[in-house]
Amino acid sequence: MLIATCPHSSLFERAKVHGRSTEVVTTMSELWVEKHRPRTVTDIRGQRSVVERLGVYASKGEFPHLLFAGPPGTGKTTAAMALAMDVFGEEFRRNLLEMNASDERKLESIRSKVKQFARTTPYGDAPFKVIFLDEADALTNDAQGALRRIMEQFAETCRFILSCNYSSKIIEPIQSRCAVFRFRPLPDAEVQDQVAKVAASEHLDIVDDAVEAITRIAQGDLRKALTTLQVAAALDRTIDRGLIYETSATAPPEALHGYLMACKEDGFHAARRRLRELLDRYGLAGTDFVAQLHRNLYAADFLDEPAKLRLTERMADVEFRLVEGGSETVQLDALTARLVNELDP
Ligand SMILES: Nc1ncnc2c1ncn2[C@@H]1O[C@H](COP(=O)(O)OP(=O)(O)OP(=O)(O)O)[C@@H](O)[C@H]1O
Ligand SMILES: [Mg+2]
Repeated sequence: MLIATCPHSSLFERAKVHGRSTEVVTTMSELWVEKHRPRTVTDIRGQRSVVERLGVYASKGEFPHLLFAGPPGTGKTTAAMALAMDVFGEEFRRNLLEMNASDERKLESIRSKVKQFARTTPYGDAPFKVIFLDEADALTNDAQGALRRIMEQFAETCRFILSCNYSSKIIEPIQSRCAVFRFRPLPDAEVQDQVAKVAASEHLDIVDDAVEAITRIAQGDLRKALTTLQVAAALDRTIDRGLIYETSATAPPEALHGYLMACKEDGFHAARRRLRELLDRYGLAGTDFVAQLHRNLYAADFLDEPAKLRLTERMADVEFRLVEGGSETVQLDALTARLVNELDP
């Protein structure tokens, strides 16, 4: 699990421990999500209507306050950076103040930073400076209320770009001051293309069904896709489907299918054994397993619709109890017992 969530340090450590060449250490310690982040608006994948509208701003060199909303790893921070680069050129960092609202919960610290930043005139012939406030939905409603004053106060010299996962957590008055852009999970074809492109530029040997596995795991989150690729590549430059599943805490569909079949045909003890093997082999936590089983349930063609609906309810119960702190062994055994009973021919 650690390796999946923190590729940077684990890759670095691994290279050091095995005393590989320094070249490996430097390439491996670089995050591919950063290295392959598009530098111009037109290189952003998917998000067609967003890219079109931002392209107009980029060519005019002028834009209003912006609000980017959408799920993780779909290009919001990328779009903000790329727009700043397109408008300000290489020296864009001089005209850009980046803040993360979840680090800077106190609005006072935001206000004083903005004030200081806005005091000097924009670098070059830029008409304004840009303040990028990431994770703006982490601000309390009170802080957002105060932010709208700041946005007005500095509107002459600064444009705000706010980014959030849930636009419903941003108060109306702020939304009405911004042009709102909605980012969607990326289509599978876009994820596949980008993974293949990054793999080629990193000189990896990767087979098509490994790219497909990454796409299935990522579910429209390109950050997750590239992180999964890099974690696997740290172990082996030749990447197949098995390696992807084993390094990403994800069970392949046939393993989940095998468990369901065992519940249906082999009885409780055999199914329970399969489940243990599956958890060990792929390094899954109980909640991962339930979520992945749920995603695969609807594809199981040996189950009829009413059975799938009943099983969904069972899984929802077990998931809730696991999240509330129920014992993993007991809860997963209970799930297996229920499935065996439900599926008994
Ligand atoms: N639409 C995209 N086109 C190209 N690359 C992308 C796109 N979306 C994400 N990426 C890749 O994934 C990485 C993470 O994306 P980004 O930082 O833009 O996500 P985000 O939408 O800001 O997510 P979060 O809500 O978690 O902040 C980027 O560095 C880039 O490599
Ligand atoms: Mg972001």
